[in-house]
Amino acid sequence: MRKLNSFGLNSTARWFCEAFNIEELSEAVAFAKDRSLDVFVLGSGTNLILGTHIDGLVIKNNLRGRTFSENQLKASSGENWEELVRSCDLKGFQGLENLGLIPGTVGAAPIQNIGAYGVELSDRLKSVEALNLFTSETVTFSNTDCEFSYRDSKFKKEKEWCVTSITISSGNELVWEYPDVRIYLEKHNLEMSSGTIYRAVCVARKRKLPDLRRFPNVGSFFKNPVVTAEKYKILESQFPNIPGYVYRHGIKLSAAWLIDSLDLKGQSIGGVSISRQHALVIINHSAGTFDDLKKLSKLIKTRVHSAYDVSLEIEPEVLPEQPI
Ligand code: EPU
Repeated sequence: MRKLNSFGLNSTARWFCEAFNIEELSEAVAFAKDRSLDVFVLGSGTNLILGTHIDGLVIKNNLRGRTFSENQLKASSGENWEELVRSCDLKGFQGLENLGLIPGTVGAAPIQNIGAYGVELSDRLKSVEALNLFTSETVTFSNTDCEFSYRDSKFKKEKEWCVTSITISSGNELVWEYPDVRIYLEKHNLEMSSGTIYRAVCVARKRKLPDLRRFPNVGSFFKNPVVTAEKYKILESQFPNIPGYVYRHGIKLSAAWLIDSLDLKGQSIGGVSISRQHALVIINHSAGTFDDLKKLSKLIKTRVHSAYDVSLEIEPEVLPEQPI
């Protein structure tokens, strides 16, 4: 499985197949049911940590297709996310520009409710179609049915769903207030549009985040912790520079800042290390193992907890599910 996860961990699977359409997907699920195998559906593996062995059937999702109509866009879950955003840019379909250059597939996007530069997928999504891997029924979920929150959704908790397509409505407003976007537009004297925001986002991501091809990684390794306003006040009195942003009912801290403030950039265990470019990204610099990663993750969590009394939660999915 090493080539199927962007972190490049060595891993094996008991069974593996690819599904290019819903019939093949259903056939693979039936095969697993007949043999009482667990099923794991894989996108492009860019937000995934693989354990050393997956005792079940791994299905690589290759469902393709995207259709634009006047008031909506429907895309199959095996499509590449960035290719979808780029085609929106070319067709002038507004709404996904802030989510440019996010690695991964369309199907993974609602599962973890991808977000960047002031927009989350849940702000844009109309509905999700999913196949139930236990009952083989296909269900359409409205935005509210998906129970979205920060990097979370119904599908992250209920593993029986395999997302088959998503639908985005047109008529989305532009969001440009995030400093990286605003400053880019001002500096280059650009008018605000879906296209210029997309360019600003691409420039920011290329500058800030380590290149996947050179430094295998899974993007942000931890979620930004959300604390209560009272907890934030206490932290602010002790650490006046600590960033905090109002998020839903609490204050979102910057996990990157917490890690960076402890001088942990560059810290390494075995073949994995904290990127020197962005403190929230762990890279596999030389044949790192699942164990190395587990140890580094624990070290970061412990250091942040003892300095700030804040618990970090990891952001990518772990397969098979286990604490790391
Ligand atoms: N910072 C540091 N040190 C660093 C990097 C950042 O102190 O090495 C501080 C700075 O103060 C900076 C703040 O952290 O202003 C926030 O950094 P950044 O703008 O890079 O955003 P982030 O909170 O670290 C989140 C998402 C990213 C998304 C960006 C942009 C999460 C877990 N991560 O990162 O998403 O691209 O915002 O909106 O919410 C991902 O989920 O994999 C991901 C990359």
